[in-house]
Amino acid sequence: MSERRPLVAGNWKMNKTGVEARETVARLRALLGDGELPVDVAVCPPATALEATARAASGSHIRVYAQAVHEKASGAHTGEISAAMIAATGADGTLIGHSERRAAGETDDQVAARVRAALDGGLSVILCCGESLEQREAGETEEWLAGQVRAGLADVAADEVGRLAIAYEPIWAIGTGRTATPEIAQEACAHVRSVAAGTLDGAALRVLYGGSVTPDTAGELMSQPDIDGALVGGASLDPEAFAAIVRGA
Ligand code: 13P
Repeated sequence: MSERRPLVAGNWKMNKTGVEARETVARLRALLGDGELPVDVAVCPPATALEATARAASGSHIRVYAQAVHEKASGAHTGEISAAMIAATGADGTLIGHSERRAAGETDDQVAARVRAALDGGLSVILCCGESLEQREAGETEEWLAGQVRAGLADVAADEVGRLAIAYEPIWAIGTGRTATPEIAQEACAHVRSVAAGTLDGAALRVLYGGSVTPDTAGELMSQPDIDGALVGGASLDPEAFAAIVRGA
């Protein structure tokens, strides 16, 4: 058993309006109850629903994270939002470097700058990394993950570990129903931790697994020694399924 407090986060991606987000959070609050939970819980709505979600989650155990942040404070960056804008909605943090954003052009340098901007803006960060199927089959997984983790942590200070988590999300497991086996996920998360330990206290860092996590697979994944929670996509849209994953952590 690790001493790290697990974190279960739901990435809603491009789903839910403000009204739908409010309904989802209300249901989640009812399912999770008001008592102390042994895990941290977060949801990541689209930017348009951040404020409604934060308001609906206010006074609960549920934390709210954006899905992305821009590194600049303001200016001519059409469609982007800053760390201060996210914080002003009442949200607590942000995802950075999700593979769906990287596929749309987000670079390692931008990821590093965005991690720095988010931390400077008072936000917590879940930094995402993960390899493609081609990279795994070519035996390049470790090298690829090391590169993404080192780049993402380039401007992070050791004492910021408490506001940072890293999510290992193999691209081949995202939205495919092909969950990584607990052994594969454990091996990759241990590797991510050991690389991150070059920058900060690896033993204090939370490393999450993401990729087709369901209530059926979550428990065994999260019981691995180096897996401290989950970043859940599709299953997090349904409050019943997400609450079941939280309870399994
Ligand atoms: P799925 O759980 O839908 O595979 O998505 C995982 C993910 O990308 C979370 O960020």
